[in-house]
Amino acid sequence: MTTNPMLSGDRFRLGTFSSNCSSGMTPTKIAERWDNSWDNNLTLAKMLDEAGIDFMLPIARWIGYGGETDFHGNVLETMTWAAGLLAATKNIAVFATIHTAANHPAVVAKQIATIDQIGHGRAGLNIVAGWNKPEYEALGLTLPDDHETRYAYAQEWFDLVRKLWSSKEHFDWNGTYFKAKQIKGDPAPIRGSVPIINAAGSPQGRNFATDNADFLFTPAIDLSRSVSEIADLKAQAKTKGRKIDVLTFSHVICRPSRDEAEAFLHHTAVANTDTAAVDNLVNLQFAHAQSFPHDLLAQIKHLFAMGHGGFPLVGTPDDVAEGILKLHATGFAGTTLSFVDYVKEFPYFRDNVLPKLQEAGIR
Ligand SMILES: Cc1cc2nc3c(=O)[nH]c(=O)nc-3n(C[C@H](O)[C@H](O)[C@H](O)COP(=O)(O)O)c2cc1C
Repeated sequence: MTTNPMLSGDRFRLGTFSSNCSSGMTPTKIAERWDNSWDNNLTLAKMLDEAGIDFMLPIARWIGYGGETDFHGNVLETMTWAAGLLAATKNIAVFATIHTAANHPAVVAKQIATIDQIGHGRAGLNIVAGWNKPEYEALGLTLPDDHETRYAYAQEWFDLVRKLWSSKEHFDWNGTYFKAKQIKGDPAPIRGSVPIINAAGSPQGRNFATDNADFLFTPAIDLSRSVSEIADLKAQAKTKGRKIDVLTFSHVICRPSRDEAEAFLHHTAVANTDTAAVDNLVNLQFAHAQSFPHDLLAQIKHLFAMGHGGFPLVGTPDDVAEGILKLHATGFAGTTLSFVDYVKEFPYFRDNVLPKLQEAGIR
């Protein structure tokens, strides 16, 4: 068994997000937008692994957001993606992202246990309770309108996963959503479970996260709000005898000069943004999910054009390091990173920003 970087040490966690999806996190029309091919993901994973990056997190998506580029129209399935990457790396944690309603818990329990063996204890699970209505319709599933039902379903789904991981005996399950007769789930993950991520925004979802997750993922739009948000989440978990860390996601444009970084931001996210895809993305988020503060719409639209609503890390290596230090000071335990071209742009970040974070003592 190797160490799972999500479970040990107190450094500020760094990961990548959405490299399995076409265009990554940036709905842009530029020809050099991210090509999410398996070969590119493999190259990226090996580079991240060698650089000591903690984790890779994929997005599970079944239909794209339309627009000229059909943003996220091409997406590698996350469980098989994680299996392949875990086999090809040594230290990095790799998450699978799973929609509870589209994946039977007995199948997922076994898949996670299997990929955890492939990675010698480096697997993780991001649980999505559902929010994207057209996508559910595409799958022939009904997304409950109310968050109570969505999260009651997710809770029973995860209770059954955990029971399969812990029970040494065959058992019956007579729940509201699942029935099982004399079922048993062998093997369990190496440590009995794996790091769990959930990205809920609603009160019901946050109740689910503080009951079940090790990490809650949330956007960092206004850091002064994030301070109290993080404190509240940690306090909520504490009253349940649990601990939760809060992660966020950031988009990186790091260049030798601020002018170059801002010119590239303008090129990708203003002059060549896929406006229809951005509109669709933002409208869907606001119609069905409660992750983003609804009163900050204008600012949020620009952030979606840049990096799917991620925190902007745009500028010189000093600027980018300073932004990450701000997230750390706010109380976040880590952030994911995205780049327009992950493979091409990560080495500059690795060579020029990571040493600054080490000097500052957060890595
Ligand atoms: C970091 C992060 C990762 C997410 N990953 C996915 C994903 O892979 N697939 C998906 O459908 N939704 C994903 N979501 C969307 C959240 O699951 C969605 O915003 C959440 O369900 C909304 O919160 P609510 O259910 O409490 O309203 C992600 C959100 C964040 C912030």
